[in-house]
Amino acid sequence: MGCKCSTTKDILFFQGGFLVTHDVIIIGGGIAGMRSAIECAKAGLNTAIVSKVYPVRSHSVAAQGGINAALKSTDSWSAHMADTVKGSDFLADQDATEVLCKEAAFDITELEKMGAIWSRDENGNVAQRPFGGAGYPRTCYLADRTGHGIVHVLYEQIIKHGVFIYDEWHVVKLAVLDNAARGIIAVELKTGRLHRLRSKAIILATGGYGRVFKTTTNALTSTGDGMALALSAGANLMDMEFVQFHPTVLPRTGILITEGARGEGGYLLNSKGERFMEKYAPKAKELASRDVVSRAEQAEISEGRGVDGCVLLDVRHLGAEKINQRLSQIRELSINFAGIDPVEKPIPVRPGAHYSMGGVMAGIDGQTNITGLYAAGESACISVHGANRLGGNSLLEAVVFGRRAGQATEAFVKSTTLGDFPDGFLSEASFELAGILKREPSEPAYIIRNEMTVAMEEHAGLFRNKTGLEKGLEKIKELKERFKKAGLTDKADGFNSELLAFLELGNMLDVSETILLGALARNESRGAHSRTDFPQRDDVNWLRHTLIRNQSGELHLDYKNVVITKIKPAERKY
Ligand code: FUM
Repeated sequence: MGCKCSTTKDILFFQGGFLVTHDVIIIGGGIAGMRSAIECAKAGLNTAIVSKVYPVRSHSVAAQGGINAALKSTDSWSAHMADTVKGSDFLADQDATEVLCKEAAFDITELEKMGAIWSRDENGNVAQRPFGGAGYPRTCYLADRTGHGIVHVLYEQIIKHGVFIYDEWHVVKLAVLDNAARGIIAVELKTGRLHRLRSKAIILATGGYGRVFKTTTNALTSTGDGMALALSAGANLMDMEFVQFHPTVLPRTGILITEGARGEGGYLLNSKGERFMEKYAPKAKELASRDVVSRAEQAEISEGRGVDGCVLLDVRHLGAEKINQRLSQIRELSINFAGIDPVEKPIPVRPGAHYSMGGVMAGIDGQTNITGLYAAGESACISVHGANRLGGNSLLEAVVFGRRAGQATEAFVKSTTLGDFPDGFLSEASFELAGILKREPSEPAYIIRNEMTVAMEEHAGLFRNKTGLEKGLEKIKELKERFKKAGLTDKADGFNSELLAFLELGNMLDVSETILLGALARNESRGAHSRTDFPQRDDVNWLRHTLIRNQSGELHLDYKNVVITKIKPAERKY
């Protein structure tokens, strides 16, 4: 790990930071991060969260429709598991999916005990609504602000349990030595100083990468940082080619219009006023799995039955009272961002990038292939979603596997001694950042960012093929070369948001390459990965996970069999 610094000035530029030691550092302050922090802190670990935003501004807060759990005697965890495995197009690992579905009710009760607020049914029980791909109404919700409710209750808990929070700090490096996590290097955005945080364990909970696409429901902060950090530190990424496109987002802004709108009875219409989902999914219609609904919408639009590049989501028949009670946020968003009041008119919607099924390969306790490095939530791929996630399983994954990663970390930390944190990590990071700030930029980074989002949408979107994916890969490689010469106009140390955007772009380019590589190699269609040149699912050759690893700067693909325990792969019909 030799430092390439040419002068001491390069190194010193970012120094003046400090070295702090914690038992565990959690990167990311969303639901998975905070849930894991609570377990660690409760167990007496010196626990810190490092987050580039305040935890209550994490993207988890934008989750609208709900969280799945089999709570009623007429439902069961095994039915939830069967729906999830079918939704995944049989790529989910069934041992992990069983854990997710079995432990769901426990975690809802835990949230309830912490003080989470839910919408209630007429008997005062947690209300549950139908969601896509589910054979039972098992999505618990708080109107259309479920993530908001959970984030705030978890935030109260991390404060109560004395979790240390480094907010508005951006992690630039995972310090991994001899395949063991030693800590992190992070830039404090307020001052621009680099700090070393040393720990026995790290939990990655950094969310997804939706911002690599042009139209996305994701916050500006969803730039795949954790996945890129883990990749460069030697972790395996898994199933990166599987990107979920949510069927109902507002045009231009990509703002989410919850699946809960369809769960409550809303339906989709084309320009002829036809309820077109009857044709594509005769039984489940609008509540088929998301990949099926998104492709159906795109087919309608491409075949000339769209309305200005959209289809229409009609909830008028639900009436103003129900809309105000259950869907008030989407009413407000539609009015403010599409100029449409859904009480009076249908909402124009189209598919948009929403969720990453892939991520850092992790086991059911969040363990990765690097000792002491754990992952949970959207940044992880524990493989409970396979090729397509069911709505309502994302918040669930965050609480179940966040909790489990916290518990596993406790055991690990208590049986491990603290490793040293060689100076070279800081010198390397200082040198890289000083280089970015010093160079005269050949072009501004936002141009590269825009070209990346357009290329990803065009070549790695809802429908893919070999030629397009090759073009996309070529484009990302070109952008990576240009990125090396791009730089900043703002040279300030403190609150340099251009620097943050630049670092995020580097992460997004790395992540984009893995999506394209995985998608190009997978010669089949499965779940959200739809290849027009290989339209069939191919269980003989492709009932396996894609692994991607960085070996000395080169990306290598490998494969791993899917774990099948109870449910045999079958044709998926809705
Ligand atoms: O449509 C939604 O409310 C999104 C839910 C989810 O992605 O789980």
